[in-house]
Amino acid sequence: MRLGVNIDHVATVRQARRAREPEPITAALLAEMAGAEGITVHLRGDRRHIQERDIELLREAIATKLNVEMAATAEMVRIASRVKPDQVTLVPERPDELTTTGGLDVAGAARAQVSRAAGRLTKVGIAVSVFIDADPAQVRASRATGAGAIEINTGPYADARTGHARKAALARVADAARLARDEGLEVLAGHGLTYVNVHPISLIQEIAEVNIGHSLIARAVLVGMDRAVREMIALLNPR
Ligand code: PXP
Repeated sequence: MRLGVNIDHVATVRQARRAREPEPITAALLAEMAGAEGITVHLRGDRRHIQERDIELLREAIATKLNVEMAATAEMVRIASRVKPDQVTLVPERPDELTTTGGLDVAGAARAQVSRAAGRLTKVGIAVSVFIDADPAQVRASRATGAGAIEINTGPYADARTGHARKAALARVADAARLARDEGLEVLAGHGLTYVNVHPISLIQEIAEVNIGHSLIARAVLVGMDRAVREMIALLNPR
């Protein structure tokens, strides 16, 4: 199973000070050196973390797959058509949300807008994935939008509070993955995956790739803390 690393939080730390560091492309290159097979960023309408400059630099710098998550708006389609990431993942976006809160309703309200965006992106050679909930109707409708891949929302699995609910949510992810493969779609998954809960997902054969952000960046901050503090103390106490 391939790992795509979502580096949005690196940009979040930078934007907290409108500073130069940390630089997302450095994080992306280090992730690639460690074996990541894709880099994911979410270009939000409010530009709260990733900026257009970041996706332009990532497009130049990375050697694996650049996956840009974005809303299916005319503005975003225009930007993607110019920068040409390898893949666009269409996601729902609400200005007040902390993070993406659910899948696209491609079986209902979002169908026309997503189909239009998928058509335009495909025409300029960009692979299209749609972020959907683990629901058979959404999987079947994804195929009809023209997307070649889906990303199954693992948020409900990650958020389940009881063993029973977690098992049921996992089964829905596995069933959706199987159906999507049968429909000829490439299957990705993501949202809320952590070092603790990823193992059962890794056993689902139909899932080719997971996108992980928060847990990975949170761990990177902590495993890097010891070294970062030692390096500063060394600077403060030159021999
Ligand atoms: N997939 C999608 C569509 C997302 O919006 C996000 C969060 O940006 C992720 C995966 C990664 O989720 P997390 O940060 O919880 O690992």
